[in-house]
Amino acid sequence: MLEEIRGRMTRDGIRIYEDADFAGMREAGRVAASILDDVGALVVPGVTTGALDDFIRSEVARHGAVSATIGYKGYQHASCISVNHVVCHGIPGAKVLMDGDILNIDVTVIVGGWFGDTSRMYVAGQANRKAERLIEVTHEGLMRGIAAVKPGNTFGDIGHAIQAYVESNRMSVVRDFCGHGLGRVFHASPNVLHYGRPGSGAVLEEGMFFTVEPMVNLGRPETKVLADDWTAVTRDKSLSAQFEHSIGVTATGCEIFTASPAGKFFKP
Ligand code: MF3
Ligand code: CO
Ligand code: CO
Repeated sequence: MLEEIRGRMTRDGIRIYEDADFAGMREAGRVAASILDDVGALVVPGVTTGALDDFIRSEVARHGAVSATIGYKGYQHASCISVNHVVCHGIPGAKVLMDGDILNIDVTVIVGGWFGDTSRMYVAGQANRKAERLIEVTHEGLMRGIAAVKPGNTFGDIGHAIQAYVESNRMSVVRDFCGHGLGRVFHASPNVLHYGRPGSGAVLEEGMFFTVEPMVNLGRPETKVLADDWTAVTRDKSLSAQFEHSIGVTATGCEIFTASPAGKFFKP
């Protein structure tokens, strides 16, 4: 009961969390990020995406966490694994990774009731230069969006920072999927767009928790969802990349809950 009345909502319907809540998100984010750290060693040519998901499922349990995705709207896996032209929500399974494949692994865990949602790109073997560049630009786009997060700025400022950087590199930002508020729930208000105009959208306030998770395509931005009702792919079959962090707005900027505990970051 107490939990339901703690904190407040903004006029835009965005929950404002309290100082003490940052500790819960920090722990959930740390677990999700350390699983992404550890799965990296398994990403080699010849492995199946299903084997990667099996490892993630067991790591979630080993950390005493719960998978947020198993049972979510009927989804049955502990991760989404999106290979090459798959934009997001790729379903792990029998697919065997080949040398040069690029893939996003997205993990969401629940720890003590708090949700940690994060994804990164990986390469099986050696990627070509264009693919490496796509991954680099996507990560830098995410970090530029996050750099725009501080009280008084708007969600449009985040989207604009990402879009301006990505498009200046002649790549495109996916419009059909967005980031989201999270905390004690997986998906909440607001929709965090990865494109936009400076100064547009809701004003950022200390205590907001949300994800930034831009998807960037080498070709056109349009996507379509396959018959499995999950897998989103680029319409033009061009390569797509994504990185995701869960963050909390602080008095002066933001805290990244899902930063790599091992200090890993993408380097082509
Ligand atoms: N983790 C994804 C996100 O960033 C959501 C995955 S939902 C699933 O919001 F059911 F596909 F796993
Ligand atoms: Co997310
Ligand atoms: Co995610």
